[in-house]
Amino acid sequence: MEVKFIEPSVPSRGVWVVGALADKALTPAAKDADRMTGGAVTRALAAAGRFTGAREEVLHLPAPGGLEVSRLVVVGLGDPAKLTAAALERIGGSLFAAIDATGATAASLHLDGLSACPLDDATVAAALATGLRLRSYRFDKYKTRQKPDQAPALAAVDIATTSPSRARAAFEPTDRVIDGVFLARDLVSEPANTLYPVSFAERCLTLADSGLDVQVLSEGQLAELGMGALLGVGQGSARESRVVALTWRGIEEEGPPICLVGKGVTFDTGGISIKPAAGMEDMKWDMGGAAAVVGTMLALAGRKARAHVVGLIGLVENMPGGNAQRPGDVVTSMSGQTIEVINTDAEGRLVLADVLWHAQQAYKPRLIVDLATLTGAVIVALGQEYAGVYATEEELADRLAAASKATGEKLWRMPLDDAFDKEIDSLIADVKNVAANRWGGSIIGAQFLKRFVDAAVPWAHIDIAGVTWTTKGGPTTPKGGVGFGVRLLDRLVASYEG
Ligand code: BES
Ligand code: MN
Ligand code: ZN
Repeated sequence: MEVKFIEPSVPSRGVWVVGALADKALTPAAKDADRMTGGAVTRALAAAGRFTGAREEVLHLPAPGGLEVSRLVVVGLGDPAKLTAAALERIGGSLFAAIDATGATAASLHLDGLSACPLDDATVAAALATGLRLRSYRFDKYKTRQKPDQAPALAAVDIATTSPSRARAAFEPTDRVIDGVFLARDLVSEPANTLYPVSFAERCLTLADSGLDVQVLSEGQLAELGMGALLGVGQGSARESRVVALTWRGIEEEGPPICLVGKGVTFDTGGISIKPAAGMEDMKWDMGGAAAVVGTMLALAGRKARAHVVGLIGLVENMPGGNAQRPGDVVTSMSGQTIEVINTDAEGRLVLADVLWHAQQAYKPRLIVDLATLTGAVIVALGQEYAGVYATEEELADRLAAASKATGEKLWRMPLDDAFDKEIDSLIADVKNVAANRWGGSIIGAQFLKRFVDAAVPWAHIDIAGVTWTTKGGPTTPKGGVGFGVRLLDRLVASYEG
């Protein structure tokens, strides 16, 4: 779908979208439409039953007399004084879905000139465009036959605004971030027979075209580095493991980078501690952390962020098999710490232990943020709305909270506490990968990771198991891969840009 910003003028084809405010008050364009149709808008609002003008409500007037367009759509904007960019994104997303469902291929949005709205016209237009594009995502590469009513329809949207050039400038960087969100969604949606560590790494190599430096570490190199924890997870699989480093240098100055680390388990069967069959297909998206990191790196390169950022992803497939690691095995991590693998299904933390250590050794970062679909327990705690965030530094926690608020990617702070830590002391090794019971499972995962991060390095861990995939969809998120984390991390990086 293509979005254009244009000077307001009455459209002659497609769908014309105008706004209604709370209590059915008409916006300027809606008044124009009402006049040109001899009062059809006013009559429709009076006859429309439950339509009140609340946000995201949509009212259709097909074939309106007095206009050339095929359809007039009135969208609710609620109280204009309370409109935020996030609210306008949701309105844009809802509009995309409502218009696409009609089969219309083109639309013009005239929602400018809201005098009571605190946002300027360019911001309003850019936020609408953001929501429209986010909702327009589809993953249909494996659909060989789509019924006409399932095929994509809405291909071109014009957004009328007082200054198209200012709106374009406001939207351009966000448009590049959405490229990153779409890449993350693509990766998350891709099945594990086509997306495995080697093919994931190859996909990363193609991002060099965007200006990223991409380095792929082979199994030999990982062994040389001493990544026994990561390699232990991958050893049961016929697919080789990989670690990929993607570097964006948007500033000349030397200095420590921001490191973003992602769990990239391309399929998690649980290994010998095998998972039940029901729902196991979900474990194709156990690389959601890696997808978010790679999507963020593309976003940063796309919008030419003035920042120095390294994205590191640990790519493995967790399979049972004759060469798989066994419960009770002891592996030596790159840090030198030995780990007793009590449960081979707690594999993400084993992968991250080595990638986090490598991040510190190789890049001496100013801070690290890792993202991982780490635990089912975080879904029990926070459901599918919030990701759980753990942080060792208040400033980093605050910046993440601000990025979360700005992007609508919701985070809830979870505790780190030494009192949990002794639960993962091992009888025969330095640490074990699970506690004796399931209590506080997401916290236990975080405490495990913390043992592999130098206390002097500000670090945050985001458990995204509940927010990486949506079965219900949302205004700006079709069902399927969410791409969670890309906008959040992009905003976090932006907060450090000079
Ligand atoms: N990848 C899973 C966590 C997960 C569960 C992600 C559901 C998304 C949806 C992780 O590797 C895992 O299996 N965790 C175990 C840990 C347990 C063995 C301590 C879990 O949550 O059950
Ligand atoms: Mn697992
Ligand atoms: Zn996993």
